[in-house]
Amino acid sequence: MNVNGRPTRTIWLAPGSTLAAPVVEIIDQTRLPHEFAIARLTGLDHAARAIRDMQVRGAPLIGAAAAYGVALAMARDASDPGLDHAVATLGATRPTAVNLTWALAEMHRALAELAPSQRLAAALDRAAAIADEDVAINRGIGDCGLPLIEAAFLAKARSGPVAVLTHCNAGWLATVDWGTALAPIYRAHDAGIPLHVWVDETRPRNQGASLTAWELGQHGVPHTVIVDNAGGHLMRRGEVDLCITGTDRTAANGDVANKIGTYLKALAAHDNTVPFYVALPSPTIDWTLENGDAIPIERRDAREVTHIAGWTEDGRRAEVRLTPAESPAANFAFDVTPARLVSALITERGVCPASRDGLLALFPEHRRRAA
Ligand code: MRU
Repeated sequence: MNVNGRPTRTIWLAPGSTLAAPVVEIIDQTRLPHEFAIARLTGLDHAARAIRDMQVRGAPLIGAAAAYGVALAMARDASDPGLDHAVATLGATRPTAVNLTWALAEMHRALAELAPSQRLAAALDRAAAIADEDVAINRGIGDCGLPLIEAAFLAKARSGPVAVLTHCNAGWLATVDWGTALAPIYRAHDAGIPLHVWVDETRPRNQGASLTAWELGQHGVPHTVIVDNAGGHLMRRGEVDLCITGTDRTAANGDVANKIGTYLKALAAHDNTVPFYVALPSPTIDWTLENGDAIPIERRDAREVTHIAGWTEDGRRAEVRLTPAESPAANFAFDVTPARLVSALITERGVCPASRDGLLALFPEHRRRAA
């Protein structure tokens, strides 16, 4: 997608990077929307920290960053213990997004059979391929989701913009490019369908207010930031035509784990018969989990709840406390929305019911494993 009119991805191999000293560059998402900063990753610990501290975030991008992290590690130590250490270190950064586990397994499979001297070049190739695959998959999600937005526009007899509500950031910043939930929105906007996006601010880290609002603005998509609790009110008043969110892990039965608060939006959508769609790339499906109950839910530092960061008028980053110093706080980063509340899943291969049969109809190669 474009930043100030220039096509930009969220992660890439730095220009001038050499095999002897590879460098990966990322958009530092902790600085957005106030500053467009590029961070340079030069080693395993750097990459792990960038994922843990959410300079890169969003399930597909976490996977791509982990793949590049393994490549950076191979430049220092490409031995068998070095490979295992890199996979374990990166795997321990964030527990909910299964794309991380998926990408690390892909990297391990691609490298383990090679001689250590061949691993660095192969790791850089495989990481680049994972990034490119993510872009192609997300473009496919956009193509498959576009007819749902077209149908919503026709259903309201072209009487006004299609009102879409989204939660957190499942746009191109959460992926290598295009996004998942926002890919159909960008496709519809580019196709000339009038749209308006309600952007949940998404406490506590405010990925909606800071990232989704920024990237929609960069692409010229009309949007309004709302507080997290406004969605139910808007749905009751008929001001939301459909919801689309992403997911960090989809169980084989179609239950989805996504940013905390997604479940409440799905409940409100259900009560108001507003379609609730979840967009996902296939690496987000965890075929080993029968349902969402066993999805690990990340708990992050309570400071993200007790404090809030922003930019002062004179351009400095500042953090202030919100809560009484003596009040404990808990920071659950994700929740699980049961499949029965999801109207349909949007994947790169098509739209399907949120169910085991729905997913297997699109991904029949998993039939035996999921049986
Ligand atoms: O904690 P984050 O910002 O990594 O959470 C991101 C989300 O919840 C997204 O909705 C999810 O990763 C799907 S992204 C395409």
